[in-house]
Amino acid sequence: MADRIGIGILGFGTVGQAVARILLEDAAAMEARTGLRLELRHVVARDLTKPREVTLPDDVLSADPARMFSDCETQIVVELIGGVDRAKELIRAALQAGKDVVTANKALLATAPREIFSAARTAGRCIAFEASVAGCIPIIESVRRGLVANRIDAVHGILNGTCNYILTRMLDDGISYAEVLADAQRLGYAEADPTLDVDGTDSAHKLAILASIAVRQSCELDRVQVEGITNIELNDLAEGRDLGYVCKLLASARRHDDGLELTVAPTFVPREHPLAAVSGPFNAISVYGSAAGHAFFYGRGAGGMPTASAVISDIVDTAIGNARRTFEQLVALPDQTPSAKYRTTGESIARHYLRIGLLDRPGGIGRIAAALGAEGISIATITQHEPPRDSATHVVPVIVTTHPVKRIAIDRAVAAMTTIKGVVGRPVCIPVFTGETDAK
Ligand SMILES: NC(=O)c1ccc[n+]([C@@H]2O[C@H](COP(=O)([O-])OP(=O)(O)OC[C@H]3O[C@@H](n4cnc5c(N)ncnc54)[C@H](OP(=O)(O)O)[C@@H]3O)[C@@H](O)[C@H]2O)c1
Repeated sequence: MADRIGIGILGFGTVGQAVARILLEDAAAMEARTGLRLELRHVVARDLTKPREVTLPDDVLSADPARMFSDCETQIVVELIGGVDRAKELIRAALQAGKDVVTANKALLATAPREIFSAARTAGRCIAFEASVAGCIPIIESVRRGLVANRIDAVHGILNGTCNYILTRMLDDGISYAEVLADAQRLGYAEADPTLDVDGTDSAHKLAILASIAVRQSCELDRVQVEGITNIELNDLAEGRDLGYVCKLLASARRHDDGLELTVAPTFVPREHPLAAVSGPFNAISVYGSAAGHAFFYGRGAGGMPTASAVISDIVDTAIGNARRTFEQLVALPDQTPSAKYRTTGESIARHYLRIGLLDRPGGIGRIAAALGAEGISIATITQHEPPRDSATHVVPVIVTTHPVKRIAIDRAVAAMTTIKGVVGRPVCIPVFTGETDAK
């Protein structure tokens, strides 16, 4: 006789409906695979009149979470409402009611990790959160358990499918950021308000969670240096391609002798690295471990069903007691690990690409070269293009690539360039990915 596990879902949107669909439609297959009878007992939403794609059995849908919390036959509560404050309140209430919790809420886990995890410990329950990073890719489980033999030296991820879709389409179709974004919103790859995706915040949330697990230290969200993709132009992507690179919004955690470095930034990835081949809305993560070397993970990072795949794996893990053991024994959660020691900002060394808008007048290139030279930056290549035929401004893009140099020197040179006569706007700077060579 299969063990019966009662499940309640908070939130009946994209992911909540997909989880409900699998629980209802694949119940027999899930039972055959796991030996568990996963019974969906409660679903909570705000608007009970809204049309939904999944039909629930009578009496399952309500607007009242208390019904779920007081039901002693519901053992696992799945939080899929998103946001921070209300989700935190509901998770606390579920834990206090003796439920284990599964969540996909990266914003909450990244902004209040100690609070959430210590609430679970105090209540003697556990929280599983595989779906909070990289959708269907089992990356939390892999770094925590599968790669437990390793000191993880670096993690580099394409963790936001919206940004990857935008960067891929810009280059493939030769269209601007604004055009692709509008199209992505129409096709449902981007939210109506895409700010948290395109400004890098969503990737930073996921990186803070993943890095905390990977390096077994507490990685604070405000220590992630974040830059989004809003300043990237089609020109930059095309120049990068000519230089042998593909531009990706890369979320990186790197361990150095002098501390940890956490960054989210548009980065030129050499074409031969597997991350460069990740296109469209897909996610991928390169993990560099002391024993394993390079391990690469790839899959759908968002969407109802891919995310539900990770949620269901957490439900099963929780039901069979694995999640509890992991939570208690593989002690690497932010409420119990020391805060990471961070490398000083600007110390990272990489080759850099710069695009400088320059008025087409004598002496401009010389002044740019002098600004770079003043910071000890060695130029690898420099190219000045013809101004576009229809340009009334006579602003020409000057493309510079540098030899490896500290980021702080680049930032100082960029600041100096903004004051140079003839330089228009702020130069765009994209570091070149150096992979495991800079992951000590
Ligand atoms: N969508 C993805 O691809 C994806 C991928 C990875 C992780 N996630 C995470 O998964 C979570 C859910 O995302 P989603 O895309 O499924 O969101 P969504 O489509 O906006 O659905 C949210 C659901 O929560 C309900 N809700 C919101 N506030 C509520 C409240 N105060 N009380 C009760 N119900 C409330 C909404 O009810 P109504 O429908 O009645 O308004 C809706 O059903 C988020 O944390 C998100 O970051 C999503």
